[in-house]
Amino acid sequence: MEERIVTQEKINTDFNEINIRPEFLDEYVGQTEIKENLRVFMQAAKMRGEVLDHVLLYGPPGLGKTTLAHIIANEMGSNIKTASGPSIEKSGDLAAILSTLEPGDILFIDEIHRMPSYIEEILYPAMEDFEMDLVIGGGNEGKSRNIKIDLPPFTLVGATTRAGDLSSPLRDRFGIINKLEYYTEEELSDIIRRTSHVLGIDIEDDAAKELAKRSRKTPRVANRLCKRVRDFALVEGDGIITLDIAKKSLNRLHIDKLGLDGIDIEYLTSLITKFNGGPVGVETIATSIGEEITTIEDVVEPYLLQEGFVKRTRSGRVATKKAYDHLKIDYNTSLFN
Ligand SMILES: Nc1ncnc2c1ncn2[C@@H]1O[C@H](COP(=O)(O)OP(=O)(O)OP(=O)(O)O)[C@@H](O)[C@H]1O
Ligand SMILES: [Mg+2]
Repeated sequence: MEERIVTQEKINTDFNEINIRPEFLDEYVGQTEIKENLRVFMQAAKMRGEVLDHVLLYGPPGLGKTTLAHIIANEMGSNIKTASGPSIEKSGDLAAILSTLEPGDILFIDEIHRMPSYIEEILYPAMEDFEMDLVIGGGNEGKSRNIKIDLPPFTLVGATTRAGDLSSPLRDRFGIINKLEYYTEEELSDIIRRTSHVLGIDIEDDAAKELAKRSRKTPRVANRLCKRVRDFALVEGDGIITLDIAKKSLNRLHIDKLGLDGIDIEYLTSLITKFNGGPVGVETIATSIGEEITTIEDVVEPYLLQEGFVKRTRSGRVATKKAYDHLKIDYNTSLFN
């Protein structure tokens, strides 16, 4: 499957996210409760002259975990060192990272659920007591020895899309645990207006709203749509994103009013017209539209399930009334034929 412009995961064209990424809490839209709590915890840590407690951020892709980790570092006036779970393969990898830490540093570990468990165990004393246990020697005849190394006080910020995959001893060592929520249309409009401003293009309010509606509740998607629509405004409009330009360009990108794209529509159409709305197995749907099962399960269904277009039942996938309504197919007649 080609890259989808509405996917929540990071794709190739997202490379210059850095420019549009907010740097401080005041610019970070939405997630109000998390923001206000963090503000208090950070101020308290500063007042006590201590480091901030370890922070775990979790939630679906593109909702602002990495952004928030950088904001925490900026607000604390700290340096941030980053690593990602899958890249820490050997205990030496983590030891190397930990030994570069300086007092007050933020250590950001992305995809922290993908860290092997024997690596996690090195993190426990590091998080709890700012200590690292190292085993040295042990080759041939030599006896191995455990030595403890003191680490400077630091804050671990972990991010994950799958909090459930985290072991509970690791989860328990985070003092601050935040679940990021999907964004409202108003919040996404704010983000879109801000991004347009940073990109140096004017956008009308109703156009921002239209983009927000089609952004799948996700800032990353909103920013991506913003960039594409900006191109249409430049080439085919007056350099301003108007409602008309927004609608025309989104239609040309095949993103419909609720943010569904071609493959979503193909999935729903197949489910409804070929299988009478289900229940039908995911394998059967995948075959009927010529996609891999894993693609369907990992990248197509999550949004359709979360928005209530499809239900998962024991006997297979079932299209909901919302799906029929969206495709303008009569729900009642199809139930009885
Ligand atoms: N609250 C927000 N306010 C403004 N912009 C935001 C906000 N959250 C995210 N963004 C924008 O969305 C983009 C994606 O966010 P980010 O990379 O932080 O997501 P993530 O949760 O780390 O995703 P992943 O799980 O894929 O790593 C950022 O570049 C940023 O510009
Ligand atoms: Mg991230």
